[in-house]
Amino acid sequence: MARPVLVLNGPNLNMLGLRQPEIYGRTTLTDIERDLNALAPSLGLELTCRQSNHEGELVDWIQAARRVQQGLVLNAGAYTHTSVALRDAISAAELPAIEVHLSNVYQREDFRHKSFLSGVVNGVICGFGADSYALALHAMARILGEQPAS
Ligand code: DQA
Repeated sequence: MARPVLVLNGPNLNMLGLRQPEIYGRTTLTDIERDLNALAPSLGLELTCRQSNHEGELVDWIQAARRVQQGLVLNAGAYTHTSVALRDAISAAELPAIEVHLSNVYQREDFRHKSFLSGVVNGVICGFGADSYALALHAMARILGEQPAS
């Protein structure tokens, strides 16, 4: 049985492809999700991909993932640097979680160096453009492979 994993994208990531392509590349979120869905079966994963510009909606989806999904891959966009609510939601979900960023946030403005989420996730992948997501899926498959199937 494929393991269900939730892939969440936060604010402005629906603008990928158009938004600051010199930083985020030209790949759209639709392209990224299509490629992830194509990769997932080979890793034994089944994905639900969602994007929202609204913090509360992201919190709702993370809450709903508890006991339904087996893992969470999350690019929270700017909420990474501001949101205690998302941090608390991730903690409460009790799921393996990976924080993703397309850009290397440590090469950028100081305010992007602080993540409210990093302390409650299994790991962080940043700086590999759209490949950051695929790397996160590989990492998630490794994490879940170490857990008994349910
Ligand atoms: C981002 C980095 C964040 O600092 C920024 O606010 C984003 C995208 C990234 O994927 O590189 O929206 O999460």
